[in-house]
Amino acid sequence: MDNIKLTIENAFPFVDENVYNGFLSKVGQLSEELESATCAGSDFLGWLHLPSSLTKEFLDDINATAEAMRRDCEVVVVAGIGGSYLGAKAVLEALSDTFGGLRAGDGCPRVVFAGNNISEDYLFELKEYLSGKRFGIINISKSGTTTETAISFRLLKDFCEASLGKDFARRNIVAVTDARRGAARQMADKEGYKTYVIPDNVGGRFSVLTPVGLLPVAVAGFDIAQLVAGAAEMERCCAADVPAGDNMAAVYAAMRNALYAAGKKIEILVNYNPKLHYVMEWWKQLYGESEGKDGKGIFPASVDFSTDLHSMGQWIQQGERTIFETVVSVCKVNHELRIPSDAENLDGLNFIAGKRIDEVNKMAELGTRLAHVDGGVPNMRIEMPQVNEYYIGQLFYFFEKACALSGLMLGVNPFNQPGVEDYKKNMFALLDKPGYEKESQAIRQRLD
Ligand code: PA5
Repeated sequence: MDNIKLTIENAFPFVDENVYNGFLSKVGQLSEELESATCAGSDFLGWLHLPSSLTKEFLDDINATAEAMRRDCEVVVVAGIGGSYLGAKAVLEALSDTFGGLRAGDGCPRVVFAGNNISEDYLFELKEYLSGKRFGIINISKSGTTTETAISFRLLKDFCEASLGKDFARRNIVAVTDARRGAARQMADKEGYKTYVIPDNVGGRFSVLTPVGLLPVAVAGFDIAQLVAGAAEMERCCAADVPAGDNMAAVYAAMRNALYAAGKKIEILVNYNPKLHYVMEWWKQLYGESEGKDGKGIFPASVDFSTDLHSMGQWIQQGERTIFETVVSVCKVNHELRIPSDAENLDGLNFIAGKRIDEVNKMAELGTRLAHVDGGVPNMRIEMPQVNEYYIGQLFYFFEKACALSGLMLGVNPFNQPGVEDYKKNMFALLDKPGYEKESQAIRQRLD
């Protein structure tokens, strides 16, 4: 089976080769630091060999829980935010029929998400949608105290118990959280919910291959063994003993840093297949939280082409030349559809009649790539043989390993996120949370 593949020749003309080689030459040392857990953030390296360490028994247990929820529920609500949400959402959006809801097909519950915003309208409409349906809840929070998730869970648990009964709720609420700490753990233990543990040494944005991502994906009816197998293959391909020049993760990390050094401060991750939209969202969180600190870091953005060629295309082609793009290019689509011929040809499209839609898409991709390179936008390309569990697993692990190397090359701790606490402190002060009395007083004075 082919693997995902990275090509960087359209980025080379934009960087100093010595700078690129300098970053690449650091990979040996950085890999060693990752392996020996001597790098910054070394308490959070549980993801590094996670794919190859997951056992069949562990996956069977997740599949059994998923199967039980599938039998009982028409809908399963996944409550979580950030790393406790985006991985599962990415897989489900990529693999589900665009118009069939997030699930593998009939007979599988629809999976919907909550806990990733504080919108009253969203939660109201979700309750309306769930009304009269048999629904379960997967409550995902590593800390067990995240406000967005906790509010949603409180509301949903209450609604589930009231509308479907306490026994049904107890059977169909699963908690994925810390082994010991946090409100989600306490509540799960008190109520007797089935629980899964998010390992201490796996940070939120690196947790997609723990039950955080695996359980919702299994509930929706997709193949988690294939997801893990793909990731394990990438773990092998990007391992410390693979020479840096042959190691996709190392090459991507080194080129990103060389581009950054050349003044390219923004990276757009591009897809030509809207099913990958949330893979890009997952990637943005991974790179944004891992590298954006200490006044440094490439700004990770994403676009769906060709849709966004009609909105962001102008900026990308001719705006400030501080941008580069990484395109995730799907080699083989899952369906076949040809453009019909039309006797009148009023739309002038007969020149492509009989062609696959995907052929036109591929020409849009190639034409855009060439135009962008001509316009001063360096381009890297990741070929993905097909959109399925196996290759999504490959993408996940590739991006994780490259992110760790890239952050370490940049000289930051890729595994912390101190900046995300600041908004929470202000929000709690404004809401008069007990323990925040001093902050409440200070913020009120500031607003007077
Ligand atoms: O990557 C991270 O650590 C964060 O994005 C978290 O995943 C997010 O804040 C949710 O945290 P928790 O799982 O503790 O509710």
